[in-house]
Formats: sequence, structure tokens, C-alpha cells
Amino acid sequence: MTKNTQLILAPMAGITDKAFREICTDWEVDVTWSEMVSAEGLVRNSLEDNKSLELAERFGEGEKNYWVQIFGCNPKSMAEAAKIIEKEINPTGIDINLGCPVKKAQKAGYGAVQMGKIPEVIEIIRAIKETTSLPLSLKTRVGLTNPQEVLEFAPKLEKAGIDQLVIHARTLKGMFFETPHWEIAKQLKNNLNIPVIYNGGIKTHEDAIFYQEKTGCEKLMIGQAAFGKPWIFWQIKNGTNDDPPIEKIKETILKHADLCLKYYGEKSLVTFRTHLSAYLKGRPNASRLKQEAVKINSLEDIRAVVDKF
Ligand SMILES: Cc1cc2nc3c(=O)[nH]c(=O)nc-3n(C[C@H](O)[C@H](O)[C@H](O)COP(=O)(O)O)c2cc1C
Repeated sequence: MTKNTQLILAPMAGITDKAFREICTDWEVDVTWSEMVSAEGLVRNSLEDNKSLELAERFGEGEKNYWVQIFGCNPKSMAEAAKIIEKEINPTGIDINLGCPVKKAQKAGYGAVQMGKIPEVIEIIRAIKETTSLPLSLKTRVGLTNPQEVLEFAPKLEKAGIDQLVIHARTLKGMFFETPHWEIAKQLKNNLNIPVIYNGGIKTHEDAIFYQEKTGCEKLMIGQAAFGKPWIFWQIKNGTNDDPPIEKIKETILKHADLCLKYYGEKSLVTFRTHLSAYLKGRPNASRLKQEAVKINSLEDIRAVVDKF
């Protein structure tokens, strides 16, 4: 890694909430991203009294270098949402989601399908830039089906005013498993004047070096590999694939559960079951312990599982 390398936690809906972002920060991540937030929903909630409370619950105080990602296809509500976020949270920047592949998003016309509607996206960018002074990022894939598509539309987005591009080097068709088209990321890095963040397929410190060297991108974003393994950032920075000592892992899991309780209350322990199952991946007894992990209801239940690691 170079001295300018930045390791970034990817936005992952249902995973990268405030508690998980804090855990990744403990493990040396440099920058974090929120889960995607509906612009329409945010604007609707802002009409109610509990707006600040709702935002604080999601983002809270004390987050130093993080971006809030919004999704939607209406320039007016996207700009309004950005304005609310700037006023209430004032994060490092706002990011537009142009990569979500799920059916619901495709049907509603937001996320990855917006790669096919660039004139509308340009309107969204202009509306947000007129409304806020926060840096504006956009996270996209390389194309709908053809990985060359982004080479055509990215310069238009830059011209419209985005300050940064995050490139998930897979197509919409390729979902989350296609071999990343790093050569496209390299061309973007060479062709654009704004910072380009590389994302896709980084699972080890060797992968991080590979994609950094191949693309020339010093900012690397990591998603799936951090789920159940937030120490991936520490591993990459220290050039190792070795796990930290088991006691540190146990400490991490229990702190993560504590933070979920603190920020989101008892109900969050149900969601924590998926995290606990992810933490178990590759451990001895994983399949037996997973059966216990999917039933946990309290901190004591979690401790009982962790004690058997
Ligand atoms: C469960 C899950 C939820 C995700 N949610 C989002 C999201 O809210 N916004 C977004 O831009 N990308 C989302 N992504 C995509 C990731 O940010 C990332 O682009 C993708 O996983 C590729 O990176 P990776 O190969 O390091 O996992 C999600 C991915 C997963 C697996």
C-alpha cells in the first residue's frame, strides 16, 4: 500500500449501520459510507417532528469521515434530502446511488437502472449542487450489460458537477460476483479529473495491492469482505491475512452487540443474528454454532455463543 492509500467501507444496506461503522473504525478503516437512504423517505420524515431523532439514530455524532448515500429519481426530492442531511448531520459529503441492482429498485427506477437515464441523472446532480455546498460523489457500476458503458457516461457526470466517482467494477447483470473489470476503472482513473475510488472483489491484502497497482486508484472501497471480518482493514494495512488474536475477535463481537443495543435497542439483536453468523464463517464448529446464532435474543445468548468460539 502507498502512503496515500485510503481504505473505505462500502455502503451495504442492512449491514453498515452506525454500530458496524464504529467497529470498522476500531479496525482502522479510513472512511465510511452510510447504508443507502431513500431521498423521498427522508423528505417525508422531515415534515414530522422526530426528524432530528431519526437522523441521529442512523448517523449519530462523532463520525468523522463519512459519506451519506441517497437514492431516488426525482431531482427535487434528491436535492431536498441533500439539504436536510447537510443541515442535520453535515457529513464529509453526499453520494448518489447509481448501482443498486435489486428488483425493487429496478421497478421503481432508481439505482443501477439510472445508468440508462443519464440526462435525468444530470438533472439530479445539478439540483443537488445548487442546493448544498457539500462535496458530491456518485457510486456506479461499469454498465448495465456492457462494461464499456461507463466510459461514455462518466465524463458527462463529471461535467455536470460530481466531485468524485466510486466505480464498482461490475455490470448490473454481473450483480456481486462477476470478475471485476479493473481495466475500465483504470481508464476512468486516467480519463477523469476527479478522484476515482475503486470497488469490487477486494478480499485480501494481496487483492488490495493488485487492484491498486492495476488501476492506479489509491482509494479502495471494500464491501462483502468486511461483513463478519471488520479487521480486513487492519489486515490490509499490516500486509497480512492472519486473523487477529481470538480474544480481540471476541471483544469485537461483544462490542458490536453492545453498540447495536445502545443505538437501536433490543430489536436490533434480531438483525445482529446475521452479523453473528457472518463472524462464525470459517470457524471450527461454525455450522453447529450457527444454529445457536440464529436464535439469540439477548447479550447473554451472544456471550454463550462467543464463549464457544
Ligand atoms: C448486502 C449488500 C448491501 C448493499 N447495499 C448497498 C447500498 O446500500 N448502496 C450501494 O451503493 N451499494 C450497496 N451494495 C454494494 C456494495 O457497496 C459494493 O459495491 C459491492 O458489494 C461490491 O464490493 P465488494 O466486491 O467489495 O463486495 C451492497 C452490497 C451488499 C452485499
